[in-house]
Amino acid sequence: MNKRFPKGFLWGGATAANQYEGGWNKGGRGPSIADILTGGSVDKERKLTPPYPIEGEFYPNHKATDFYHHWKEDIRLFSEMGFKVYRFSISWSRIFQKGDEITPNEEGLKFYDNVINELLKYNIEPLVTISHYENPLHLSLEYGGWKNRKLIDFYMNFVEVLYNRYKGKVKYWLTFNEINMLTVPFGGVFCAGILDEKENTEQNRYQAMHHQLVASALAVKKAHDIDENNKVGCMLAYHNGYPYTCHPEDILFAQQYCQKHNNIAGDIHVRGEYPKFAKRIFEELKIDLQINSEDYKILREGTVDFVSISYYSSVCVSNTAEGTKTNANGSANLKNPYLKASDWGWQIDATGLRYVLNQIYDRYQLPIMIAENGIGAIDKVSEDGKVHDDYRIDYMRKHIEQMKEAIYDGVDLIGYTSWGCTDVVSASTGELKKRYGLIYVNKHDDGTGDLSRMPKDSFYWYKRVIESNGEVL
Ligand code: BG6
Repeated sequence: MNKRFPKGFLWGGATAANQYEGGWNKGGRGPSIADILTGGSVDKERKLTPPYPIEGEFYPNHKATDFYHHWKEDIRLFSEMGFKVYRFSISWSRIFQKGDEITPNEEGLKFYDNVINELLKYNIEPLVTISHYENPLHLSLEYGGWKNRKLIDFYMNFVEVLYNRYKGKVKYWLTFNEINMLTVPFGGVFCAGILDEKENTEQNRYQAMHHQLVASALAVKKAHDIDENNKVGCMLAYHNGYPYTCHPEDILFAQQYCQKHNNIAGDIHVRGEYPKFAKRIFEELKIDLQINSEDYKILREGTVDFVSISYYSSVCVSNTAEGTKTNANGSANLKNPYLKASDWGWQIDATGLRYVLNQIYDRYQLPIMIAENGIGAIDKVSEDGKVHDDYRIDYMRKHIEQMKEAIYDGVDLIGYTSWGCTDVVSASTGELKKRYGLIYVNKHDDGTGDLSRMPKDSFYWYKRVIESNGEVL
């Protein structure tokens, strides 16, 4: 029986600059959209306070968990766990304060030089997300975010700087984090930087997605031109929506849900063209996209080398039934009576991961990387001073078991980076108490905590998993 991870499987962890780095106004960095988002909670949405932060409000991303000053220590801990890969994003406004300048900020680049050199010192492969939920604020205030085509050029300027600077050092790139979140209002702010609520319409979000897809295709092509060893992937927040009942209308609805939320973006990234069903979706939604004639060629020429996904949970969808709502990664849908949920209502569905991996591989036949997976939970430091996060170990074990099954099914799975490997600020709620990490950071929602780091039980467990290449779970 071949239930084994392939040799060279990329085990590791993932973070994003805006949720982890802090140092929001250090080293010549300009503000990003994440810097004007206040903290929230499971029932209180994060508030946007443009144009600039307001005195007296709490902005969790400003200091986050301070990778900016702890990079050396954290990378040493990653290496202790045996990481083969570390996924992180580059803060665009650290390199271009406003986003539309020509000359990059050398001090910002130096920070990433240090990070990348330190990773290479430990033989950890850097996997860079070029844009992860943090457009420079100026690009929103001046240009209205990604609904404006001009952002393609600014992004390409940023991208070229990175490719040239890290040629021969960084091989794996992701162009945009969760581009398909633009199908829901959350993505209007986080992916596109559309800050005016009235402007956060489906029309503008799909237009922004088109611009990002064009930018992504250009970035893939550029990566290959600059270094043929570069491998560039897309990143999809995989919406796994099961039919709520076996009513044929629910089955059809689930298929349409997948087409709309996953496949429009995925197909363009992988196949280089809009899928046929997109036309009807756009007509029914009354979306009229501005597509330049050269865009079709650009999309065709910039298809990705691999697919990456985030996977946390599944939901049920229905066109016929009413049910209790639950959350999954930015979109609320119906509760599945067969599944348990996290403290934030994200339903835990390890089998769903195998289902999704098969679905994606059947469709694209490209290598797949799980770029995010994990459980956001309230971790308590016990009397013995440790964090005994057996619930996290249980979550990860079950998901990794299903990855093994998927590999046995024939899926070409090449890597797994567990989300928020060091505790980070939550994207959706802005909380620090929603922790994903294998490494605990002493930092709390009231701003207290000395930022000290401590391995949780899951740290030691994951270390054994990596050492045994997934044999010891
Ligand atoms: C993904 C994002 O959607 O989910 C991350 O790429 C995010 O940035 C992660 O942190 C988990 O979501 P949350 O809201 O629990 O932080």
